[in-house]
Amino acid sequence: MAVTSPPSGATTARSSTSGTFVSFEGGDGVGKTTQIERLAARLREAGADVVVTREPGGTELGGEIRRLLLHSGHVAPRAEALLYAADRAHHVDTLIRPALERGAVVITDRYLDSSVAYQGAARALGAEEVRDLSLWATEGLLPDLTVLLDAEPGLAERRTADRGGKDRLEREPDSFRVALREQFLTLAQAEPERFAVIDADWPVDVVAAEVRAAVLTLLRSRAAGHAGTADTQGAEAVTGCR
Ligand SMILES: Nc1ncnc2c1ncn2[C@@H]1O[C@H](COP(=O)(O)OP(=O)(O)OP(=O)(O)O)[C@@H](O)[C@H]1O
Ligand SMILES: [Mg+2]
Repeated sequence: MAVTSPPSGATTARSSTSGTFVSFEGGDGVGKTTQIERLAARLREAGADVVVTREPGGTELGGEIRRLLLHSGHVAPRAEALLYAADRAHHVDTLIRPALERGAVVITDRYLDSSVAYQGAARALGAEEVRDLSLWATEGLLPDLTVLLDAEPGLAERRTADRGGKDRLEREPDSFRVALREQFLTLAQAEPERFAVIDADWPVDVVAAEVRAAVLTLLRSRAAGHAGTADTQGAEAVTGCR
């Protein structure tokens, strides 16, 4: 299924913040949490203020919403989309924006693109309306960089097979995973300046190097004209060069 391009006027509408907002996206088990931990550790070693969070469930209220989403049996698609949007609205207002305003690097494990890919495409709601709902919920906040960890669905299946206890979303059939991957890739094609698509089917260290390169590119562009600032130090930190 095709995803339409972002509606005009619905692209990044960030308030002026000094922080850096990075999201990780991709199907279940592609390595998002693994790579986020690596990146956050690297940035923290360099003294950066790093906030790692996730959706759904990055806040206390979000934890309640996550529990409802994952363990409530059937949830009507529109109710599901609204629950994710409610989680995101609270997450952005109480955690992400305040952290960005104090200059932190905020790394979130899933954000709006997951809603568009999962709910908009696979759950038969319009991708554009799901995206618009999230943009309304977040007052237009989009990441500076979205790392899409891309893998053929079988790879993620093998990695998740040993972990037991599959939750409601993980029980979807293979055709769902194939469609989901296509949706993420289509989203990335629609906004190439925001997305870095990285092949997740490499050893952890190789993927981590690709992630660092993408973050470095972002930090360097944001640090342009601010030599010696924390952003520049962060850029040096993620490559290990000075
Ligand atoms: N590049 C890799 N090569 C091999 N195994 C990996 C790689 N990256 C992660 N793994 C392993 O695959 C499993 C899933 O990784 P991880 O939990 O980071 O994925 P995830 O995208 O966060 O999954 P979920 O969507 O379920 O939260 C873990 O057991 C992890 O150790
Ligand atoms: Mg994870």
